[in-house]
Order: sequence, then structure tokens, then C-alpha cells
Amino acid sequence: MSPRETVAAIDAARSQLAAALTGDPDLPDLLARFDRWAPDLHAGLSAVYDADAVLPAVTDVIAGVHRGRSERLRQRDRERLLRADWFQASDAVGYVAYADLFAGDLPGIRRHIDYLAGLGVTYLHLMPLLTPRPGANDGGYAVMDYRSVRADLGSMDDLAALARDLHDAGISLTLDLVLNHVAREHEWAVKAKAGDPAYRDYFYVFPDRTVPDQYEETLPEIFPAFAPGNFTWDEALDGWVWTTFNEWQWDVNWSNPRVFVEYADIIGFLANQGADCVRLDAIAFTWKRMGTNCQNQPEVHALTQALRAAARIMSPSLIFKAEAIVGPKDVVAYLGQGEHAGKVSDLAYHNSLMVQIWSALAARDGRLLATALSRFAPIPVTSAWATYLRCHDDIGWAIDDADAADVGWDGYAHRSFLADFYAGEFEGSFARGMHFQSNPETGDRRTSGSAASLAGIEAALDGGNPAALETAISRLSCAYAMVFGFGGLPLLYMGDELGLLNDHSYLDDPAKAEDNRWIHRPAMDWSLADGHAASGGVADRVFQAIRRLIEARKELAALHASVPTEASVTGDPAVLVFRRRHAAGTVVQVYNLSESTRVLWPGDLQPLAAGPLLEHLSGEVLDISRPVVLPPYGAWWLTEAP
Ligand code: GLC
Repeated sequence: MSPRETVAAIDAARSQLAAALTGDPDLPDLLARFDRWAPDLHAGLSAVYDADAVLPAVTDVIAGVHRGRSERLRQRDRERLLRADWFQASDAVGYVAYADLFAGDLPGIRRHIDYLAGLGVTYLHLMPLLTPRPGANDGGYAVMDYRSVRADLGSMDDLAALARDLHDAGISLTLDLVLNHVAREHEWAVKAKAGDPAYRDYFYVFPDRTVPDQYEETLPEIFPAFAPGNFTWDEALDGWVWTTFNEWQWDVNWSNPRVFVEYADIIGFLANQGADCVRLDAIAFTWKRMGTNCQNQPEVHALTQALRAAARIMSPSLIFKAEAIVGPKDVVAYLGQGEHAGKVSDLAYHNSLMVQIWSALAARDGRLLATALSRFAPIPVTSAWATYLRCHDDIGWAIDDADAADVGWDGYAHRSFLADFYAGEFEGSFARGMHFQSNPETGDRRTSGSAASLAGIEAALDGGNPAALETAISRLSCAYAMVFGFGGLPLLYMGDELGLLNDHSYLDDPAKAEDNRWIHRPAMDWSLADGHAASGGVADRVFQAIRRLIEARKELAALHASVPTEASVTGDPAVLVFRRRHAAGTVVQVYNLSESTRVLWPGDLQPLAAGPLLEHLSGEVLDISRPVVLPPYGAWWLTEAP
């Protein structure tokens, strides 16, 4: 398409928008945003579809969403455009929770906002809350209706009211957007099953095994234990439908432009309820290509760019978070590389950092972590990593063979070690976790378990060993210090601030029993959270440690996500160093990955001078002109003392 034709298509869309919104007081602002982002929208669409043919429908969506946007949210848009880096700043702190497990329902959450605000939380990701299919629903990731709330949690009005209260308390709301698949009970799937060809085209359906078998040759299995294979026979469809995850989660066909228009509209709908961020669930899988693993295809980024541009026009305060649990080579593209730099997701999960923290703690060695992180390409300065220690999912031991070889380890052996170690099966292990989705064919085993149980608190409590308990609490605090100090948006997983242990009650619920990820999805313990726990107990001590991290982080502007963290080890592999050189100041962080004391030498802390240093977590001044002793699992955030 020639540039002139592109301009003509964009001009036509602009006129369409102006006509649809005549008299709207914010039309000039909307058109200014359109002029700014329409070329990105058009370019993203062009990579995949006949952009000129799709643009009018997308423009309709933009007009409709803008029309439905309340004055309150329009004001939020204006404010956020003036503080576009809100999720990168050091005062940003995330919290992730299931609505029901945290507070029963949405009104219940409204009553607990003070708890979150008191903790310093500024960003709340509420786990899937849109209406899922009945029965097993993958923790809500099998959505039956994107426009209603799961009945027992409340209504759409409750959600909008919650968003307003959160905003008033300085907390942004993140909702899941499951865009790789819908429940087979979703209206689109129902219509497809009823024989409507337009809706059949919303999915990948094959009459026999020929094509599925060809794809299977290069496709991995995500849930090999309870949902082997990637296709499911459906009687009503009279065909095999693509189901990457469970058989009742039907992958949608993003090569169909109608699917794009549907999701653009859903994004606008959620933004208009007050969502500040959408978490793009399983986004890596949204484009299929024969002969590949059907993840991270270039079209994914073109489509994200188009969706992001549409969002920037219709709901400019909304940001995107990519849930792409993929390797270092592929993940950076979700924050934007090359032509997509700065134009796709604003946040992406740093899965590697999470895996490497657990790996370093098991090995008492930070070399692999430093090597793996050094492989990361730079990310756009306007984006940030979402850093985390635990989430609702299992931990997949994504250790790269080449990285392992670089430190003289065997990748396969180290992955096996980690799986055994965190299942508590390795001799001397401090962890209590479970294997998830053991795959006999590949030897792959992932891990379930809560942060506290994996960090040794459960075993120490069971063993009645006060010294081990002390060590385990320090280990958990040290791990979270890395998450909070890394310089991204740290996500605290619900209950971790109280050291909640594995919870086996999921076994009593047939819809959950098969999936041991529920072991690390315990209900919030308000008797602990409300401070009724004996102070000095585990919950209290973990809570104080996390609070301290949050407070110290907020005071350190230099933790802003716009600069990278450089990781290394000192002469001692158990002593990990993070360096952050920011215009606001240089911060050097030191972590002892072991249960024994270590020594730090003045040269280890470069580029900080050997003069007095301020340790921000304790508030103490450190004289490092001489060697200093780093306590077991000690975590120090250092700057030159003023
Ligand atoms: C994401 C979710 C996970 C879910 C999967 C399929 O990875 O985090 O819980 O099973 O997507 O929706």
C-alpha cells in the first residue's frame, strides 16, 4: 500500500470519528490522540489484515468507547497523560489477589482497601473475575462472558464502584484479558457449534487429524498431565478445535479481523469500568504458524501494537501488561523491539528473574542469575518489568542450556535439581513444594508451592526448629528484596506478606483437585493481617520485612524502571550484586544467597566510593573502607551517605 493510500484511509477514519462524535466536548483531544496514534494502528493492522477494510470497524469501536467513557475517567486520562510513568516510578507497588480468596467478593474488597493502601500498594491485579464456564475453569481463565462479573463476586456495577474507590485511594486496577482462548460455553463457541460459519471462523477448526498432526510435530504441551495434545474433537463442530490449554478452552483465531474488532471493544469496555491495565493472558500463543511452536510469532506484536494504539486513542490511561512466559530471547519483544519499540505492552512479567532467584537460593550461587540477566536486550525506557517471586501459576524451570554451560553447569541436570529441590525431594532441601505437570517424555517437571513454603518456613515450623525458622524468614525477605529492588513494578502475591503456607484444601473441591497450583492459592488470613497474630510471630515478621522494603523503595527515586539493573557476583558466588545507575543516583544492592555470613570488600561496591554508605533497608550507615560482614541472607540497598 502506498503512503498516499494509507493517509487516505486514516483521513477517512478521522472524518468518521469526527462525524460520530459531533458535539462531544473532548472531540479535539480525541482527534489529537487519533492523529498521534492512528499511523501505529494502521501499521499494526496492515501487518496482518487488509487494514483499510478493518479500520472503519475499529474506528466505530473507538467512537463507541469514547462516548461511553465517563467524565471521571476522562479526567483520569488527562491526569495520567501527565504522569505516564506512574507504573515505572519507585513508589509503584503491586499486589495480586483473587477477589474471593482475598475478601469474599467485590464489595468485600472495597472494605479492605485500607489494608492495601496501608501497605503502600498502588496497583492491584485482581485475578480473573469475569464470568467463567461452570465447573473447572482454570482459575477463571476460561471466560464465558467478558461483559459480566462472576455472579458470586458481584456485578459490573460493583466492579466499577470498586475501581472508583481504588482510584480514590491511589490504587490502579488491573484486570485479566484472556485473549488466546474462550470457554467452549462462550457465545462465540456456542454459535460456532450451532453451525454459524461466521463464528466457526472465530476458531481453528479442522475436519480431520491431517493438519492438527502436522502442527503437533512442533507444538509443545502446556498441560501434558491433564490436557495432553493441542486439539480437541468436538461433536457439534464435527471437527478438531485448537485447544492449547484445557479441552474446554478454545483458542480464538486472530487471523480473523472480526476477532480483533471484538477484543478491541472488550478492552474499551473494561477500560470504561475503570480498569487501568489489562493483563494480556497467554499472549505468546495468539498467532499460529506451521512448523513452529506457535509462540512469539511476529504477528503477535503487530496485533498488540494495533490494540495498544486503539487503546491510546479511546482510553489513554489504560496500559498493557504482557503475560508472556517465554525465554529471554523472546520476551523483550513484548515490551517492544525494532519497529514496535514503545508501542506494545508497557509491562511484562520477568519470568527469568523469578526463576533465577529461586535457582540462586537453592544453589547458594548467583552466577547463573547474573549470566542469564546479562543476556537481556535493553527494554524501551518507557516500559517496565513486572517483577515477582510467586504468582498463581507454577514455576517452570526455564534455565537455558547455554547459560548453564557458561557457569560450567549442565542445564538439564540443574533443571532436575531445581524441580527436586523445590519439591523437597533433594537431600537437605529447605523447600516444601509439589511437582506440577511432570512430563515423562521431556523429563520436564514444574513446581507448585507458596513462597513461604518454598523458602523454608513450612519445613522449619514443622521441624520446630527456631534457628531454621529465623533463616527461612531471612531467606524469604532476601528474595523479596531482590524483587522490590530490581527496578520494575514489584508484584506482591497475596498472602506472601504474611508468609502464608501451602494450603491443601483445594483437594476437597472436585473442580480444583486435579490442579495442584491451588496449593499456593490460599485464602487471606485476616486474623493475621489485622495484626491479631502474636507480634514477633512469623506473619508479623514477614509483614514488617515487606513493609520495610516498600517504604525504602518509595524513598529511592533511583529505582525508577527507566534504567536497567546490572547483576554480578563478587569474588564469592554467594554474594550477588545489583547495580543501578540512574540520574537520580546510583544504587548498589548486595544479597547474601546463603545461610552463612560472608565478607564484602570495599572494591565490591563500585562505583560507590569507599566512604560511608547509607543502607536503606536498615537506615544504618556503613563504613566500607574496611571489609564488612554480610549476615546470612542479608540484603543491602546502598547509596553514598549524604
Ligand atoms: C496464563 C495463566 C494461567 C492459565 C493460562 C491459560 O498462563 O496465568 O493460570 O492457566 O494462562 O489461560
